[in-house]
Amino acid sequence: MYGLERHLMKYMGHKGKLLSFLGDLLVEEASDANAIADPFCGSGAVSWYLAQNTKKAIMSGDLQKFAVCRAASVVERTEPVSAAAIFRPWIKRATSLVKVVVDKFPNAEASVEPNSKATGDIISLVIRSRVFCETVLPNLLESLASQFPMTKAYGGHYFSPMQALMLDALRATLPRVPDNRSVALAALIETASRCAAAPGHTAQPFQPTATSAIHIMEAWQRPVEKLLFEAIETISSRCAGKIGAARVMDFGETINSLEEGDLVFADPPYSDVHYSRFYHVLETLAHGREVEVSGRGRYPEISKRPSSRFSLRSQSEQAARDLIIGCHSRKLNLVLTFPSGEASNGLSAESFMSFAKGLYSSIEEHKVDSDFSTLGGNAKSRGARLKCQESIICFRV
Ligand SMILES: C[S@@+](CC[C@H](N)C(=O)[O-])C[C@H]1O[C@@H](n2cnc3c(N)ncnc32)[C@H](O)[C@@H]1O
Repeated sequence: MYGLERHLMKYMGHKGKLLSFLGDLLVEEASDANAIADPFCGSGAVSWYLAQNTKKAIMSGDLQKFAVCRAASVVERTEPVSAAAIFRPWIKRATSLVKVVVDKFPNAEASVEPNSKATGDIISLVIRSRVFCETVLPNLLESLASQFPMTKAYGGHYFSPMQALMLDALRATLPRVPDNRSVALAALIETASRCAAAPGHTAQPFQPTATSAIHIMEAWQRPVEKLLFEAIETISSRCAGKIGAARVMDFGETINSLEEGDLVFADPPYSDVHYSRFYHVLETLAHGREVEVSGRGRYPEISKRPSSRFSLRSQSEQAARDLIIGCHSRKLNLVLTFPSGEASNGLSAESFMSFAKGLYSSIEEHKVDSDFSTLGGNAKSRGARLKCQESIICFRV
């Protein structure tokens, strides 16, 4: 039994739960391949599995940098690294940086580290925290050499001021040794995802209302250091059988990096809502650069967020054709996962099979029961999670 599921970062459409079946199937389909591509790597769950369970180079790609950082932390490393050696000196550096900020404020503990229980107190604390992060802290932060994107954009919203400062300080003081740095950044991304005060995924933070205030307080009390250490432990012991690579790139480019006879595992988006709407907080952390944000979701402007043809109903069919035809023309075998029924981007497993007809020598479909996040709804329902059937399709050249 592969114990990945317990440690998975929450991610829409992640295939961790399918790995007990999908993992074996991919290893079998890759038996003659030198390399395997995971061009829509997302949480990195499948890339990690393949890196650990094969001796093939894994080429991971995604439009989102944070997803690529997650995959890179395992696929680009063939030796385990020491969790303690990463964590201890790193926390020390980050804590010193936070102290420079916190020491400037009398009663700093009370103003940045919340412990209220009554709803009214929580609401006024949240409002105070927002004002603190938006108008008071920036003047001080300007005088420091580091950037503080999480504090300025999301402090008092997705994170308590203290959590946000700590996330920024950790981002600014990452280890320098490349393998350690990569593991550290992937663990930091997971930590932020676990702490975010948001329902489900990170599209919008909880608002300080009578019903949601308690959820904000619960999230703001999550311990960054403890979660970070757990995440480092989970990642540091994993490594690849053969060195691979992870890059921010469109799926076509990832596929082009393979040679004839290699295998592509494709898990494209099925929703008509872009992933970047839900994961902008993690993306900001991965980049480590300050961003202008607006609205309840604290979104960076749309032109600054990655957009996918698969999530545009007018372009999803052509994107699917490009995937199917691109793999075939390069003589690559393909395993694709997609909901069996019609998804909100207008595609279904059947669409991919119809585009592949006459091209591949064999097409084999397996159907498995799954529940999946609809990113706020699919064509038939606006519920957040649905029972559905997922198709796993092998296209063999
Ligand atoms: C269904 S998720 C993949 C989930 C992943 N298999 C896992 O187990 O976590 C789809 C991913 O495709 C990425 N994506 C969307 N369009 C893309 C494109 N044109 N090229 C590369 N990646 C893309 C999204 O950012 C998202 O992370």
